[in-house]
Amino acid sequence: MKTFQERVSEFSLEAKATLGKVKTLASLEEFNASFLGKKSELNVLMKELKELSAEEKKVAGPAIQKVRTELQTEYETKKNSFETKALNEKLVSDWIDVTKQKFTGNGSQHPISRVQRQVEDIFTSMGFEIADGREVETEWHNFDALNIPAAHPARDMQDTFWIQKNSDNPHENAVLRTQTSNVQIRTMMEHGAPVRLIAPGRVFRSEDVDTTHDATFYQVEGLVVDKNISLSHLKGTIQTMLSELFEREVKIRFRPGYFPFVEPGLEVDMWFEFTTKAGEKKALWLEFMGAGMVHPNVLKNCGIDSKQYSGFAFGFGLTRLAMMRYGIDDIRLLFSQKKDFLRQF
Ligand code: FA5
Repeated sequence: MKTFQERVSEFSLEAKATLGKVKTLASLEEFNASFLGKKSELNVLMKELKELSAEEKKVAGPAIQKVRTELQTEYETKKNSFETKALNEKLVSDWIDVTKQKFTGNGSQHPISRVQRQVEDIFTSMGFEIADGREVETEWHNFDALNIPAAHPARDMQDTFWIQKNSDNPHENAVLRTQTSNVQIRTMMEHGAPVRLIAPGRVFRSEDVDTTHDATFYQVEGLVVDKNISLSHLKGTIQTMLSELFEREVKIRFRPGYFPFVEPGLEVDMWFEFTTKAGEKKALWLEFMGAGMVHPNVLKNCGIDSKQYSGFAFGFGLTRLAMMRYGIDDIRLLFSQKKDFLRQF
């Protein structure tokens, strides 16, 4: 009968010979099951080891442990090398040439970006700066600082997307700004007077979408604060801007309007001439924007002395202006991703 030691040696020889012949991951796993798994000779020997005398264990224990460690180390090394080889082969077989895509033509500027740049150029040529604003704004900057207190019905004029509304403190609550007028507040608080800026940007209102209303749209805010500013400056500025943009003399008119942050408040209409799809020439007064003289409370909220300074502010819809400029009759087309539509610009 073979001794325990002889059986360990025979097992070691056979296992190493088998492992030496392994060439694939599948046969390596077979080896693992037969020589290192629960039903293996190794496992039987490990169990029998417990029954040996203490004297025999001293020799047999380290010997079988050595064989087991050697086999396991060799198994792990081979496994890693097979897996790395398989991965490299897959990387080579799956490789694609991303530069080989078919060229589908140049992109073009979106009509809103195009009008925005034109508007910016016209205003900068009149000495205006361009300011950027926050799209996520505190309730205070979007409403309270603009003279629209919490319980005031004017808040309902703009359906609001609330980001956070769990406090009585309007500095702690957050909204998606409903108007670019928040930029008036941030700029005046930071830089004081005088100010001459426009602030184009996205605004958000929880509104039903139709041909002329979107829930995300672009506005341009304007603000001039200085000594001796009057509504005639506003009229001249807007008339110049529209005439340059439409490349002809554009008439505008003022009507009384209500916005809590201006006094007096105005609606500004423009005389809009256009040609219908049927080729007919038409013209009408079109509501263009809200405007007015900056309310003394707003100047006070921003730390500006309303006895020394006065100013005008306006806000128009850049999205609607782009529609007028390019004769787009449905606001939804602008973000429809329709290439046929976008290629026209
Ligand atoms: C305002 O938002 C004021 N902040 C404007 C203002 C600024 C007044 C400074 C006085 C002084 P209003 O809610 O009317 O006002 O919006 C201004 C413009 O945004 C509108 O004239 C319109 O062109 C555009 N607009 C409003 N709602 C939508 C909408 N849902 N989709 C597209 N454009 C819109």
